[in-house]
This record gives sequence, structure tokens and C-alpha cells, in this order.
Amino acid sequence: MSKSKFLTGLSIVAGVAVIASGAAVAQDAIAKRKALMKAVGGATKTGSQMVKGEIPFDAAKAAESMNTIAKGWAEFATLYPKGTETGGETTASPKIWETFADFDAQGKKMAADAAKAATAAAGGADAFKAAFGDVTKSCKSCHDVYRVKKN
Ligand code: HEC
Repeated sequence: MSKSKFLTGLSIVAGVAVIASGAAVAQDAIAKRKALMKAVGGATKTGSQMVKGEIPFDAAKAAESMNTIAKGWAEFATLYPKGTETGGETTASPKIWETFADFDAQGKKMAADAAKAATAAAGGADAFKAAFGDVTKSCKSCHDVYRVKKN
């Protein structure tokens, strides 16, 4: 192989690698945000089982679950770069990229409500129940707008 052919070959390989790593970054962001939401879902389940009396109320565990939700948002909001609108079995709605400021505001509200519920847990089961209700309302209001239903 001549030297110039070899160099052309190398740059093609490098170009393909750049494209592939861009796609990998996109897949990574989708996988990460789904995993984070799953953790939020798990923490919410713990809270809701306590509220329903399916598991005993435990102030420390309740607070820990709410803190998981509260802390998740900061990273979650960074996992919507352009190029991740589709793929990776995402259920994110294209609306997220149209009105990101509103999406972010809804997420911040959830985080603030979850932080309040974490504090309320120290006040006992009833105080927790009231604060937890606000957290679950924010799940639905965001999903209704920013998540596409899969049939
Ligand atoms: C500000 C918007 C927003 C809020 C608030 C929100 N979610 Fe989500 N949620 C999303 C989006 C967007 C997805 C889809 C992510 C994707 O597929 O890329 C999602 C996906 C999920 C999933 C599916 C994860 C998977 O396995 O793909 C679960 C479970 C979930 N959310 C639970 C919750 C719960 C519980 C709450 C409330 C405590 C909540 N979410 C609050 C936006 C939100």
C-alpha cells in the first residue's frame, strides 16, 4: 500500500470512530436518563408503599427515598442533548426540546417537593403522606406532557 493510500485509510477509520462515538454518547445519555428515572420510580414506590401501609413507615428510609428523587434531577436535566430525541427505546417526547425551560422548571419543582417530603418524614407518617402527595403529582404532570405513550 502506498503511503498516501494508507493515510486516507487511517482518516476514514478515524472519521467512522468519531461518528460511532457520537452515537454511543447519545445512547449513553438515553440509557442514563432511563436508569435515573427507574431509580426515581423505585424510590416513589417505597414512599407509596409506606403511605398505603404496605410496608411499615420508616422515617429514615422515607427520607432517603425522597432524597434520591430530589438529587436525581440535577443530572437528569443534563441528559437531553440534541441527537437524543429518538433511539434507545426512549419515551421522551420531542416537546422536551421545544420547551426545555418549562420541562426543567417542572423537574425542579419535583426536586423541591421531594426535598420537602424528605424533611417532612421526620414529622411522622401523616406529615410525610401529605408532602409525598405533592411529589407524585409532579410525576404525572410532567409525564402527561413530556413523555410519549407507547402502544
Ligand atoms: C420534568 C419531567 C419529569 C418528571 C417530574 C418525572 N418524570 Fe419520569 N420520565 C420523564 C421522561 C422524559 C421520561 C422518559 C425518559 C426516556 O425514555 O428517555 C420518564 C420516564 C420515567 C420512567 C420510565 C423509565 C424507563 O425505564 O424507561 C419511570 C418509571 C418514571 N419516569 C417515573 C417517574 C416518577 C415516579 C416520577 C415522580 C416522582 C417522575 N417520573 C417524574 C420525565 C419526568
